[in-house]
Amino acid sequence: MAYDVQSNSLEEFWIPFTDNRGFKKDPRLITRASGVYMTDHKGGTVIDGSSGLFCSPAGHSHPKIIEAVHAAMQDFTYVAPFGTGHPLSFALAERVARLLPEDFNHIFFVNSGSEAIDTALKMVMAYHSARGNDRTRFVSRERAYHGVNIGGVSLSGMVNNRKTFPSVMPNVVMMRHTWDENELFVRGQPERGVELANDLQRMVETYGGETIAACVVEPVAGSTGILNPPKGYLERLRQICDENGILLVFDEVITGFGRLGDKFATDVFGVRPDIITMAKALTNGSIPMGAVAASDKVHEVIMDQAAPGAIEFFHGYTYSGHPAACAAGLATMAIFEEEDLFKRAADMSDYFLDSVFALKDHPMVRDIRGIGLIAGVELKSNGTPGQRGGTAQKDLFWNGMHVKFTGDTGIIAPMFIAEKSHIDEMMEKFKKTLDGLQ
Ligand SMILES: Cc1ncc(COP(=O)(O)O)c(C=O)c1O
Repeated sequence: MAYDVQSNSLEEFWIPFTDNRGFKKDPRLITRASGVYMTDHKGGTVIDGSSGLFCSPAGHSHPKIIEAVHAAMQDFTYVAPFGTGHPLSFALAERVARLLPEDFNHIFFVNSGSEAIDTALKMVMAYHSARGNDRTRFVSRERAYHGVNIGGVSLSGMVNNRKTFPSVMPNVVMMRHTWDENELFVRGQPERGVELANDLQRMVETYGGETIAACVVEPVAGSTGILNPPKGYLERLRQICDENGILLVFDEVITGFGRLGDKFATDVFGVRPDIITMAKALTNGSIPMGAVAASDKVHEVIMDQAAPGAIEFFHGYTYSGHPAACAAGLATMAIFEEEDLFKRAADMSDYFLDSVFALKDHPMVRDIRGIGLIAGVELKSNGTPGQRGGTAQKDLFWNGMHVKFTGDTGIIAPMFIAEKSHIDEMMEKFKKTLDGLQ
């Protein structure tokens, strides 16, 4: 369906994370989407190479999600989540807990990844305060992305996400990132770099381990272009946290729900955090929703400190566990299981990574990193960071493919329903676009 953008000035909508002035001169609107394909406003077909923003692994407009949301909306369009509830949120929490490691049995619903991180930080604070600890420091990492709320920005290690916003949480200290410019084109976990985890030990020695509340990491740093943890790195973080009573938080907003080739990154890497954040694929991107899973240990401490009848965790959102989101989440969990999508993603990983790493010798490519069904293709900068990536993203769209670029790195993350022929189509369009860059 062609769509008349001329009938709208395009001025009123302030577009997030976008060069608004450039976009409005050259708008790229999607008017329909189904499975791995989308239709642009000129009627062109666009293959989705990033599963939206890594959130729609089961494909766009899945009929079972549409049906489930529609059915839930017949019963109620809203239920107040404080002091009352509805069955769908309990059912979804149970379903999500079943996917998680066995000691994660408590799920707090929010509406986005950013809210999930802020909620996780508050859970950490509530946990320590219940134990009578005065721990106020958080450890994060360079090149981290934890969303855009003040908590997430405070933990952010990406300069553009924080330089305009100087008023953030105090007492956040940064470990070094894990990308090594001398170790390019590493597929999966780098062999070298475990010693970078000792940055946490240095924080312990500099500030005192008893002042540190939590260490928060993305198991694979996503939004800075897929930085895999070196072998042994996450294990070492866990060990230092254990030795010092520090909570370990995994931000699994991208890595959760099968993206790395198993259910969660905690399963892929065999390291258990204390708190796990998730969002995106929880509803297949169809309705905004995030969640925070607390380990039994964290949950118990927070519950036990509260006086009988008191609210144990003084936190929540008007739309926490919204019925539409819960219905979408339940349908998504059912689809993952019925279509065996996590296995499909794992089975497709080698073919996908082989195809992406075939770009290794392309003159525009500086580095490639990948794992499971996600890969970052970093382009050589033209001297202005992000400019070549921005051009590539636009050119690629008009060549019929959507890829999310972050700086100069394109993050390719096919849907789990993608066939080999779709991967071939993506890589052909991606390469053609790189060939056209200068
Ligand atoms: C690791 C991580 N945390 C948090 C967020 C923020 O999620 P949202 O955009 O849903 O607020 C993102 C978004 O990409 C993310 O990748």
